[in-house]
Amino acid sequence: MDKTIFPKDFLWGAASSAAQIEGAWNEDGRSPSIWDIAPKKKIRNGEDCHIASDHYHHFREDVKMMKELGLKSYRFSISWSRVMPEEGKVNEKGISFYSDLVDELIKADIEPLVTIYHWDMPLWVYEKGGWMSEKIIPLFKEYTKIVVDRLSDRVSWWMTINEPACFIMNGYMQGEHAPFKRNYLALSKLTRNCMLAHGEALKAIRKYAKKTPKVGIAFSSGAFIPKTEDPDEIEKARRMSVESDNGLMSNRWWMDPIILGKPVKAYGIYASHEKDMIEICQPLDFMGLNIYTSFNYSSWGKGSQVPSPGIAKNSLGWVIDERVMYWNLRFIYERYGLPIMITENGVSLNDSVSLDDKVHDPQRTDFIYRYLGQLKKAMNEGIPVIGYQHWSIMDNFEWAEGYDPRFGLVYVDFDSGRRIIKDSAWEYKKIIETNGAGL
Ligand code: BGC
Repeated sequence: MDKTIFPKDFLWGAASSAAQIEGAWNEDGRSPSIWDIAPKKKIRNGEDCHIASDHYHHFREDVKMMKELGLKSYRFSISWSRVMPEEGKVNEKGISFYSDLVDELIKADIEPLVTIYHWDMPLWVYEKGGWMSEKIIPLFKEYTKIVVDRLSDRVSWWMTINEPACFIMNGYMQGEHAPFKRNYLALSKLTRNCMLAHGEALKAIRKYAKKTPKVGIAFSSGAFIPKTEDPDEIEKARRMSVESDNGLMSNRWWMDPIILGKPVKAYGIYASHEKDMIEICQPLDFMGLNIYTSFNYSSWGKGSQVPSPGIAKNSLGWVIDERVMYWNLRFIYERYGLPIMITENGVSLNDSVSLDDKVHDPQRTDFIYRYLGQLKKAMNEGIPVIGYQHWSIMDNFEWAEGYDPRFGLVYVDFDSGRRIIKDSAWEYKKIIETNGAGL
């Protein structure tokens, strides 16, 4: 008998973020974000996110597709500059867009999962110092309160921030993402401001929410794969994954302070100090993990992966190794003990429309079965996974990589805005319909 224990209310879904799909960058009172003003030379092919997948104008049709695919949940983020185009000003049309989206989702029986911040900082906040300044903490709290005031009568699931490690590494250390800075010396300050803003936002959600909220944060996460199933190898991989390394991109740098209230030190500096722990370490209902690829023993410490020749990779060159799903869940749950939602997992491919006017993407279908198989293995061992959000619901603006990497379950023709449901999405629908029985 199939022992799969996907609970009846398992949150099968898909994810997106505002800057990557919405477009309508200067409509209905929205002000620019740091991504809208990215210099052309910083984005592949000189592209921008001004129109993106044009979801702002297609959202009803998009929700209809989600319904057709049988999604139970949909994770999306709010554009801060759409809701607050300037300090102290609420943009009624902006917040109404999200309110209408939530209504549409609820009508379709799809649970809305809201991320407050997914990298698209308003220019006006950046000009006040952005993540470099403590001023962001009360500003972020005020913005969170506005969103919660307007949506929490219908929204229960909240994530404060998406992948702080990534936007700090890419945006402030390596200069590859907006705001394109290289400022290694600011690491401690950036981390601290981010963690404190998370803590304040979380408290605001609990205080102002009308429906009892379930609050989390979405971490980028990875793990080392044990070389064999020998207990010593497993222990080595576990230590490397969640204990030994403390750097910015490690699991610990963020999770220890936020979940355990433990300060972490690396490169001779603290991610956060003991005195801040009370504010930072707020009780979470779940932790979100964005899982894509494994860490690699030989390259750890050198900053990048060195995959073996010919190994399976996505179109961005990231190694496809589904074992990371199982080991990541196992190591993280052993250390942090919280229910886990997979808030992102997916694959970029060079999808195209075939002569039959369909999008055939067998590699994505295979990817989904591989990763979900490992997720099921973890759940069968008792790890409480409460949902899986495939990245992404539709092809979108992949930040500095522009539009070439297609991560969507739904294909988007970026010229016409036309959508085509890919083959893999129909397969995903079957998995949802059978509640993972065939995995
Ligand atoms: C981010 C997404 C991004 C995806 C694929 C995650 O790190 O949260 O915004 O599109 O990875 O790169």
